[in-house]
Amino acid sequence: MRERRAIGFRLNGAPVRVVAEPGKRALDVLREACGLTAAKEGCGTGECGACAVLVDGTAKLSCLMLAAQLEGRDVTTAEGLGTPQAPHPLQAAFAAHGAVQCGYCSPGMTIAAADLLARDPAPDREAVRLGLSGNLCRCTGYVKIVDAVMAAAAVMREEKP
Ligand code: FES
Ligand code: FES
Repeated sequence: MRERRAIGFRLNGAPVRVVAEPGKRALDVLREACGLTAAKEGCGTGECGACAVLVDGTAKLSCLMLAAQLEGRDVTTAEGLGTPQAPHPLQAAFAAHGAVQCGYCSPGMTIAAADLLARDPAPDREAVRLGLSGNLCRCTGYVKIVDAVMAAAAVMREEKP
């Protein structure tokens, strides 16, 4: 068995330290050691986006990252975007626009959308489709997801001072 080591990073705004084998996947550390289960395993091979988390503000596929690669990074999972009591505008819009059916893809979708809107606060529908092209949904047909991201973008632009 490979030697375990401590890995320190920021998770949803707070410093954390976990002990893991360096070869363990970031997705597993987040779900098992940190107990945050929003990031999901869909494919495990970089094809579906269900495992997406923000790393230093950019959406990354945690199934393709090693736990050791989290060292010193700033990680945000969907739990860190918002809470049921205070949802992020994207989370509120996904609920309001019927963009969530089984919900398996939703955390990864909102993470990818958060990354997109940080880079492009006023995307057109095509830009949203492109921004979410790495995230698969087996339920919704994507139209309501794009509707939700467009609505959230409008809310976020209004909220900006
Ligand atoms: S589980 Fe990571 S891309 Fe599908
Ligand atoms: S809502 Fe079921 S996979 Fe997207």
